[in-house]
Amino acid sequence: MTAPNNTAPLLEVRDLVVDYHITRKVNFRALKGVSITVGAGECVGLVGESGSGKSTLGRALLGLAPVAAGAISFDGKDITHAKGAARRKLGNDIQVVFQDPYGSLDPTMTVGEVLAEPLEVVGASKTQARATVAEMLDRVKLPGDAVHRYPSEFSGGQRQRIAIARALVRRPRLIVCDEPVSALDLTTQATILDLFIELQRETGVSYLFISHDLGVVRRVCHRTSVMYQGEIVESGDTHTVTEEPNHPYTQRLLLAAPVADPAKQAERRAAWLALRESA
Ligand SMILES: Nc1ncnc2c1ncn2[C@@H]1O[C@H](COP(=O)(O)OP(=O)(O)OP(=O)(O)O)[C@@H](O)[C@H]1O
Ligand SMILES: [Mg+2]
Repeated sequence: MTAPNNTAPLLEVRDLVVDYHITRKVNFRALKGVSITVGAGECVGLVGESGSGKSTLGRALLGLAPVAAGAISFDGKDITHAKGAARRKLGNDIQVVFQDPYGSLDPTMTVGEVLAEPLEVVGASKTQARATVAEMLDRVKLPGDAVHRYPSEFSGGQRQRIAIARALVRRPRLIVCDEPVSALDLTTQATILDLFIELQRETGVSYLFISHDLGVVRRVCHRTSVMYQGEIVESGDTHTVTEEPNHPYTQRLLLAAPVADPAKQAERRAAWLALRESA
């Protein structure tokens, strides 16, 4: 994918260190000095194996991780330790979409209520909220009558559309997408990824796109960073990182990804084993 022209960093993370407090005396350093930028209208992928620290970085952007050092700036302002009213205000600009939309959608609320709630919190009238909700349902290609139904009445892919619509209603400038298609079958994944691309074109929203799947970031991300044990080990344009990676860890990640062709799969497995033995 070609990056948009306007890539002045909307988000800039510099040398971020996150320490989880395990006991009073023991800390676990989940991020060890991570730097990453996301431009306006850009999609930046963050890949890495389970436990490498991807979600921790996402949580740090939302003010939900214990930052020990480093800085996060958004639109030129330092938000590293933003709290209270400043953090709430950021809620309009930075939204999140998780892997499991069911866990984050209140099952007792209709889709209309789920989508209208964040608007009413910021003072929209019922009429305004209704119009915005209808517009967002249309954007994510759900039928208008979805407003009267409950999240449990939808398929996984449709629920993810509801979660995306909920993230969009406040017209954010950045959405942290944390494995947003990992729970979906391949066909549904493809349509949701296309939806992300289309919404970005229409609205200019930026994404930090977290995934363990190189195939997924290849489809949507302009640039990609690879995280390994709390550090970024490789960054660059997505094509280079996912097709011709330099770092041995990224090469292993690439070779570990399944491919449809059994002969190619066997070739990759042999290459992966050889790399593992030489590591
Ligand atoms: N609240 C917490 N307290 C202590 N350790 C934590 C906490 N949250 C995460 N960790 C640890 O921090 C490391 C990074 O976790 P994180 O959830 O960021 O990984 P991830 O890359 O998102 O993994 P996955 O792909 O499985 O979602 C892991 O070793 C995890 O066990
Ligand atoms: Mg995670």
